Amino acid sequence: MTMNTQVKPVSRESLAEAARLIRAGELVGMPTETVYGLGANALDEAAVRKIFEAKGRPQDNPLIVHVSCAEEIPPLVKGIPEKAKELMDAFWPGPMTLILPKADCIPDAVSAGLDTVGIRLPQSEAARALIAASGVPIAAPSANRSGKPSPTTAQHVLTDMDGRIPLILDGGPCRVGVESSVIDATGEEPVILRPGGITPEMVRAVLGGVRVDEHVMSPLREGDVARSPGMKYKHYAPGAKTIVFTGEPERVVRAICAQYDEAALRGERVAIRGFDEHDFGGRERISLGSAGCAGDAAARLFAALRELDARGDTLALCEAVELEGIGLAVMNRMGRAAAFDIRRVDGR
Ligand code: TXA
Ligand code: MG
Repeated sequence: MTMNTQVKPVSRESLAEAARLIRAGELVGMPTETVYGLGANALDEAAVRKIFEAKGRPQDNPLIVHVSCAEEIPPLVKGIPEKAKELMDAFWPGPMTLILPKADCIPDAVSAGLDTVGIRLPQSEAARALIAASGVPIAAPSANRSGKPSPTTAQHVLTDMDGRIPLILDGGPCRVGVESSVIDATGEEPVILRPGGITPEMVRAVLGGVRVDEHVMSPLREGDVARSPGMKYKHYAPGAKTIVFTGEPERVVRAICAQYDEAALRGERVAIRGFDEHDFGGRERISLGSAGCAGDAAARLFAALRELDARGDTLALCEAVELEGIGLAVMNRMGRAAAFDIRRVDGR
């Protein structure tokens, strides 16, 4: 089934049209501060099924439910633990999703059969305006085809969803650029399942401590249990084999250049993803922004991965960022794109 996909800048009219489509059980591509979402009425099981179909998403991977204000949350969950409340007060609206025990009104298709649901109150004005105008909570995964990098522009959404959805709201490039932090708040101690714009340091400053799931920076091995179904899937995978280099910048640059030349001799189409200040001796580079600014890298990461695919590169050599602040979120996505092939180049 294919349809005509329209892209419209966010305006009063386009928001009203998008809200009508949501109420009618259709899908809408919507901007948020993290990445673009593929939204549907979260309480309409048939609409939610269309999301899985349009994305080609595995049925056992649950969706995040987006609300426009805190008052919309109580009917969607079975209680809110004290620490979850503290996180809500500190970081909402913002790039954080809280996993909470779900109420019965959440369809199984949304929670993928789990007894929990992810709730997010986004910072994006356009996203909240759409939810408010729709009058229903909006279930929205990232608006990419499953296995592709998340979209950070309306054009990315169009590339993946053209002919599959009726409308994409264009709110410009996403400010954060990586998806929300997913925090399991069902237990006594919240656990970060997916790092994002709300960093472990920020959570620690509020709660006094927080656990980061061990699979944030390591692959799931046979027999491991995924606390978040999303951990099981090979996300963010560019067509190019990807290697990440970490260590002292000069050594990283040298290692990347050496690998580049070797691979180019073999006839590979090689891309470097590196920082502006670093000199790769004229070898082609996709910019990750300014060195030491992980926020820049976050905002550019997914567009850089899409650029690799578009150019048909066969090998991508990436500079790492520090594992602190939003750098952890960047390294989680980079690491997964590289199947955790992260090479340390200092020392001998
Ligand atoms: O920033 C974001 O979170 C974006 C924007 C659109 O809001 N959405 C997003 O959704 O990234 P998605 O579906 O691409 O990623 C949601 C992640 C998946 O890894 C999923 O497995 C996990 O959250 N998740 C959702 N519900 C869960 C639950 N009840 N328990 C554990 N993990 C859950
Ligand atoms: Mg996603």
